[in-house]
Amino acid sequence: MHKRTLGANGPQVSVLGLGAMGMSDLYGPADDAESVATLHAAIDAGITLIDTGDFYGSGHNELLIRDALRQRNRDDVVISVKFGSRRTPDGAFQPAPVETDPVAVKDRLAYTLRRLGTDHVDIYRPSRLNPDVPIEDTVGAIAEMVQAGYVRHIGLSEVGAETLRRAAAVHPISDLQIEYSLLVRGVEQAILPAARELGTGITAYGVLARGLLSGHWTPERALSGNDFRGMVPRFQGDNLTANLALVEALRKVADTIGASVAQVAIAWVASRGADIVPLVGARNRVRLQESLAAADLVLSDHDLAAIEAAVPAGAAAGERYPAAQMALLDSER
Ligand SMILES: NC(=O)c1ccc[n+]([C@@H]2O[C@H](COP(=O)([O-])OP(=O)(O)OC[C@H]3O[C@@H](n4cnc5c(N)ncnc54)[C@H](OP(=O)(O)O)[C@@H]3O)[C@@H](O)[C@H]2O)c1
Repeated sequence: MHKRTLGANGPQVSVLGLGAMGMSDLYGPADDAESVATLHAAIDAGITLIDTGDFYGSGHNELLIRDALRQRNRDDVVISVKFGSRRTPDGAFQPAPVETDPVAVKDRLAYTLRRLGTDHVDIYRPSRLNPDVPIEDTVGAIAEMVQAGYVRHIGLSEVGAETLRRAAAVHPISDLQIEYSLLVRGVEQAILPAARELGTGITAYGVLARGLLSGHWTPERALSGNDFRGMVPRFQGDNLTANLALVEALRKVADTIGASVAQVAIAWVASRGADIVPLVGARNRVRLQESLAAADLVLSDHDLAAIEAAVPAGAAAGERYPAAQMALLDSER
């Protein structure tokens, strides 16, 4: 699989990364054995970037990655870890703010290293901005961990251009992780130009809009009680109907290209620049195989025009997060 470099000084990674969140959390039941098999299949296919968060399944996701890496070479993989979000034992997210003060940075990193069974995290990043903790303090504390050898690179998640600039003034930021798909293009306005100016790459999440843009979503799909998508406006009622109509328009284009809807959606994100690495959220080997083919799918100018005519910028109905969570996104200010 071909490679891309995250930021001016960041690590080289495969053109597609694997996000492991859904293997522990938020998208309904998952199967640990299948999750490990999927991680193995991804690594064997050349995926070198694995994204997790210490709060995904309250540590379960990191333990799963440790289990998978026992049978692979840890140094073949770039592990990206988010921290800061807080949970309760029943899995609920605690109210904001996230925990990103310098003491928490070091404390949470210590637990993460133990759970992952490694002596360093390749990219460490706060999951959200805590408006009460200056970003300089959070990045400064991670920079100390870089100096000490526990972290290789510093990333950010869902922050806006101004926060990115302030952070990059303290330490180079390898990549900003942010939602980016045919349905979510806000990053293109101010954030992507700032990232390019600062030499920061983008790891794009939700490239399939959490499954909505995969070509496999149906209105009949039952969501279990802890499935986050049950709370997302974009998946509800008339919004869902309108969004699935966009997917059907995209399916017609995908058919002419000879690829699946998911492959076209992933390849479109990859086509936005060599500094962008799509994270795919495959939770099983079947979905993984489908998404891997997107790594080799080159879209012509004609294809890109047809894709963007089928799903024009701003066409999505409904917000990408529930209102309370939208309000916490520095990237949306
Ligand atoms: N920084 C942040 O704030 C943030 C937020 C969310 C996620 N992330 C990271 O980004 C990663 C990816 O996000 P995401 O899971 O929302 O992304 P996604 O790839 O947009 O959505 C994944 C969902 O799409 C479905 N799907 C259908 N066809 C697929 C295919 N061919 N390949 C992959 N998935 C397919 C899967 O559903 P089924 O398995 O049910 O079929 C899965 O639940 C996460 O794992 C996490 O590491 C970061």
